[in-house]
This record gives sequence, C-alpha cells and structure tokens, in this order.
Amino acid sequence: MRAELVCFEPNCRARFALDAVLYNCPKCGGLLEAAFPNDPVDVAGWKKTWRERRLNNTRLDQSGVWRYRELLPFDNGLDHVVSLREGNTPLLEAPRAAEYGGLHRLTFKHQGFNPTGSFKDNGMTCGVTQARRLGMKRVACVSTGNTSASMAAYASAAGLEPIVFIPHGNISYGKLAQALEYGARTLQVEANFDQILALVRVLAQRLGIYLLNSINPFRIEGQKSIIFEMMDQLDWNPPEWIVLPGGNLGNTSAFGKALRELHGFGFIARMPRLAVVQAAGAAPFWRLVNEGGEFTSVSKPETLATAIRIGDPVSWPKALAEVRASNGVVEKVTEQEIADAKAQIGRAGIGCEPASAATLAGIRRLTAAGIMDRSASVIAVLTGNLLKDPDYIYKYHTGQLQSPNSEIIRPTFGNHPEVVPDDPDRIAELLGQ
Ligand code: F0G
Repeated sequence: MRAELVCFEPNCRARFALDAVLYNCPKCGGLLEAAFPNDPVDVAGWKKTWRERRLNNTRLDQSGVWRYRELLPFDNGLDHVVSLREGNTPLLEAPRAAEYGGLHRLTFKHQGFNPTGSFKDNGMTCGVTQARRLGMKRVACVSTGNTSASMAAYASAAGLEPIVFIPHGNISYGKLAQALEYGARTLQVEANFDQILALVRVLAQRLGIYLLNSINPFRIEGQKSIIFEMMDQLDWNPPEWIVLPGGNLGNTSAFGKALRELHGFGFIARMPRLAVVQAAGAAPFWRLVNEGGEFTSVSKPETLATAIRIGDPVSWPKALAEVRASNGVVEKVTEQEIADAKAQIGRAGIGCEPASAATLAGIRRLTAAGIMDRSASVIAVLTGNLLKDPDYIYKYHTGQLQSPNSEIIRPTFGNHPEVVPDDPDRIAELLGQ
C-alpha cells in the first residue's frame, strides 16, 4: 500500500511525501505519522503469508518487523533494509508475577530478547532503513540509553555514522557501554533528556544530520510490529489489556496506531485497552490524563528507572489520542513499587530492567483499585533486558539502593550474596548438609 506522511493534528492533516525529511508539520508544527489508504485488504491471505514467512530463511522474513511489511511504509524501500533479526520476541506466562499483580493469569511479551536488548530495535530497523532510503550519512539521537544503543548498532551495521547524545551521569553503564562498543560518537551532555532533545533538534537541522528519536514517524512505524507480532502469536485473539511503561510516549503512540490499523482493516475483532504506567517522579502524562487541563511538563523528572526519566514527552498528543481511542488508563508508581515488582519479575525467571517493571507495579495498583479485573486477560510488555542495569540490581538486593530523594529502597525481596570460606564442612553446614 502506498503511504504518505500526514500531520497528526485533526484540524490540519496536511500531507507530505514519504521522502520528505520532516519531523514536524511545517504548516502547524504538529507531529507527523505515516498514513495508509483505507483500501480493503486480504485479511486472511496476509495472516497466512505472515505465518508462512516464519518458515523462510530470507533476511526479511526472519525479521519480526519486516515479516509484517505490508503494514509498513516501505513498499519502494525494501532494498535499503538494515536488519539484525529484530523482533521474534516471546510471550512468557508468569504465574508468580500474576499472583503478585493480583491477576489470575499474566503474560509478558519480552522485548529484551531483541538484538540490542530493548524494544527500540523494532523501531530502529525502520528508522535506519529510512535514513538509507533518503541517502543520509550521519544519524543522531538523544537517549536515556536504549535508543542510543539501538541506533549505534543499526547505523554501524548500515555503514552510517551514529552520533549519540546522552544525559551525563544519568544512563546505566550497560547502555553507555553498548553505544561505545557499537562505535557511536558519544556526547555526554550536562543536561537532562528533555533539554538535550531541544538541542539535538537544532543541531540536526543545522548540520543536516538525520534525527532518529521517536518523533521520527518511521521509528513509530517499526514499533507497531510489536503489536502485530503479539496478535499473530495470539492467533489474532486480542487480550483485554496491554500494559506498557510510558516515557517519551513513542511506544504508546505506536501500540495505539498498530491496534487501530489492525482493527480498522479487520485483523482483530476488538480493541484491547492500553494501560500506560509512569514513574511517579516523571509522570506528566499521568497528570494530563487523570487531572485534566493543559499539558504541562515536569521540569526536574526523577526516577531510578532512568529509561523513563522524561518530563516533557514529545509524543503526548499522539499518546493521548491512542489512550482515549482504546478506552485506556494511565497509572503511576513509586520507586519502591518499581523495585519490588522488578524483583518479582526476576524471581519468575524472566527479569527485566527497571522501567519495564513499572508494568507489574502498575497492574498491582490497577487490580487493587478494581480498574483491572482479576480475571482479565493481560499482556505486559517488558521493554528492556535485565542486564541493561546490573548496578540497580546489586544495590537493591544488598539494601543499598537509594531513591532520588535519598531514601533507602527496602529490599523487600532482597537476595544478599554470601561470602563463605573455602571449606566444604562449613559450606555443607551452611547449606543444611
Ligand atoms: N522502557 C524502556 C526500557 C525504555 O528505554 C524506554 C524509553 C521506555 C520504556 C519508554 O518508552 O519513550 O516510548 O514511552 N527509552 C528512550 C531512550 C526514551 O532514549 O532509550 P517511550
């Protein structure tokens, strides 16, 4: 299908060619999205094709993103595809985590199984492919860590030059290490994510560098595939709820768009409800949805879940429309709740990074409040791999984790490592013979 770029603002809807280098509408400043014509599609035929492609060894069919290319705006761009076999992430049943969250059943879709360990790879394969289609040489992003890791990998794999901007001292070492190892020029700026995004937008314009933050509509297109793959894995029976963490709100926008498209074209019979969870110290979207009024940013966002330490999320207008379209909700959770939920996800044998654990903490609140039924079918999206932030884990389990306001986070489910002598008798005694 031939897509075009369309302004997301309902009273503008200006249209632009897919190869226009634009991040915002030049007429009204609104966000842009790729829009497909409303033509009827062969729903049964496409479902069959997508399933059969899993058996093919070709690069495009092996990718859990490009397998669904009929619903991606790249019909004349497939020669440029840069893929690291992204997607293909599992659905994992988690009975113990379900119990903790107050649910009878809970399934995680774990995006941490991606090549660079986060959901960003689903979007980045499309963003970097678009950079190649446009003939760009340099690409840039500001990041709380995962976007930069992903962009560094995909840009280097594509032979482009990645330039990464990160808030100095406020991203995990795992993520910083990835940017370095994948060969990105890495600039640590003495400012927070929101301030650096403003800076990078100016620089991208001035230096002709292609910007790969989630305001880039092609990243959002790629992240839709998380939902496409999830529905395919569920044989197109949607759950009642899909739960995800919210930071810059690109993923919320992508999930909502994917669900609208699947529903609109007739791939799914009903819309799941989105439940977006923010960290209490960085919750401007929670405030907007639950307290109403104008959108106001949080000037000093704080959370140990550094991936979602964002006070001025660029995609909030899209995310708001998607949460409303899905009859969704927005919840917020404390540092202690995130840390304990994370330990529970770990004990389920699954594990994730702090931001991802906001999902289970949010579920626990939503079931306690009676907003989410205990017998509801729920899929929570774990956005990043456990090994992204080992420092946080060690500190939690040893009782050294401190919240941004210097309160100790209780190691409710702590698992302290024990130092033992090199002595079989003593160790046998310790382990109870
Ligand atoms: N979870 C993880 C692990 C993330 O890295 C992010 C965002 C989110 C959730 C929130 O997703 O922004 O689409 O609402 N990380 C970005 C980054 C901002 O730069 O890596 P969102």
